[in-house]
Amino acid sequence: MYSATEKALIVSIWEKVTPHTEQWGGEALERLFTVFPQTKIYFKHVDTSPGSAAIRTHGDKVMKAIGSTAGDLDNMSTTLSSLSNLHAYNLMVDPVNFKLLSHCILVVLANHLPSEFTPEAHLAFDKFLASVASVLSHKYR
Ligand code: HEM
Repeated sequence: MYSATEKALIVSIWEKVTPHTEQWGGEALERLFTVFPQTKIYFKHVDTSPGSAAIRTHGDKVMKAIGSTAGDLDNMSTTLSSLSNLHAYNLMVDPVNFKLLSHCILVVLANHLPSEFTPEAHLAFDKFLASVASVLSHKYR
């Protein structure tokens, strides 16, 4: 459950992310592959070298998927249902990796939004990304 304050914080941060989904999504993935290189195992068919166009394209998709649920948190499991199937059944991503990516996304947001990313916004966004991760991996349970 989210408080009205948390919902408002998530929406207001997401409004700032929207124009930059490709760049910031790419930066988050680049961090993921650099800091946690074991995650590259899922992307053998993708060019994961720093600055690759494929990373930016994929980062854009990931950020837009997150954005699709930012304004409607109570319906997240419906909104992300097909992505949940994809990650759980087709890609079989170990759930621990969602925490790693969430961490990288938080670092990118903190970098780009130094004044907006207050401790309260950090807390709300951490909770939000943990919910996204839970929905994307809930089919494992
Ligand atoms: C594909 C979102 C976490 C591995 C995708 C796609 C989206 C997405 C939107 C594209 C689906 C399509 O093209 O139909 C997300 C979100 C995540 C997340 C919102 C969490 C915040 C992860 C993690 C991994 C991962 C942690 C592994 C470390 C993949 C792979 C693909 C994929 C391998 C397929 C890439 C390809 O073949 O082009 N994801 N993802 N995802 N995701 Fe995720």
